[in-house]
Amino acid sequence: MNIMQAWVIGNWKQQPATLQAVDELLDSVIKRLPNGDVPLCNTMVIPCHVHLPAANSKLTNTSVALGAQDICAFSAETGAFTGDCSAAQVRDAGADWVLVGHSERRQYYGEDNDILLKKLRNALSQQLGVIFCIGETKAQYDSEQTLQVLEDQLSVIQRIISEHASESNNEANLAERLIIAYEPVWAIGTGKVPTVEEVTATHSHIKQVIKQYAGAAGELDNLCVLYGGSVNADNAAIFAQADSVDGALVGGASLNAESFLAIAEAFSAAKASNVQ
Ligand code: PGA
Repeated sequence: MNIMQAWVIGNWKQQPATLQAVDELLDSVIKRLPNGDVPLCNTMVIPCHVHLPAANSKLTNTSVALGAQDICAFSAETGAFTGDCSAAQVRDAGADWVLVGHSERRQYYGEDNDILLKKLRNALSQQLGVIFCIGETKAQYDSEQTLQVLEDQLSVIQRIISEHASESNNEANLAERLIIAYEPVWAIGTGKVPTVEEVTATHSHIKQVIKQYAGAAGELDNLCVLYGGSVNADNAAIFAQADSVDGALVGGASLNAESFLAIAEAFSAAKASNVQ
């Protein structure tokens, strides 16, 4: 299955240090956008919460989408949850998307399937799209548990699909608001990457599993599955050429406009050669 439009998404994590640096980075991205967009490739940046409003004003009238890095699990709107931002608040600050389940959240904040399910529900209730991250650790990879681990993490999506199927607001809508990012934990920020054959096999498995969850209706057949973990301007083309890789979730290399857009161009070129 070939998705017509790729996604290249920059997860800025706890960077850059200042609002001024955010401004400069966004100016640099906007200046480099050929004719305002990258053909056949959607782009998105995900700054930290306090930088969302400034990023939103810069990106208005550009093709670059805006996402948030996290939302509160316990309330979709307001409440007594010190330190948290809700789905409604990040949406009000300009985000249309949110990352849920990033391995750093799972590892450092102990986020498990129950918490992630709550976050997904909150995001969808506020019309935010979700980039849901999954991935195995090095020990799990070494003991060949990858697919098992991913299926356990994807059980959250199974719940969401069944909840949505029973609402009028169903899967067709979900397909437009859900992106899966496969990020092996051992590949994040390490410079180590799995082979493209491994990623292809894993992505095909993820798509198959989601297809089974969605059942006969088939609305999630075109679900976008991104690869993340040490993607950079030099290796992006290799992943982009794999049919089952619909884009990339990029950390370090997204903090430089040139390398971020070089990755988007690599996916754009791969899509263009598929179209011909
Ligand atoms: P990286 O991070 O590109 O720096 O490896 C990816 C991510 O954490 O999403």
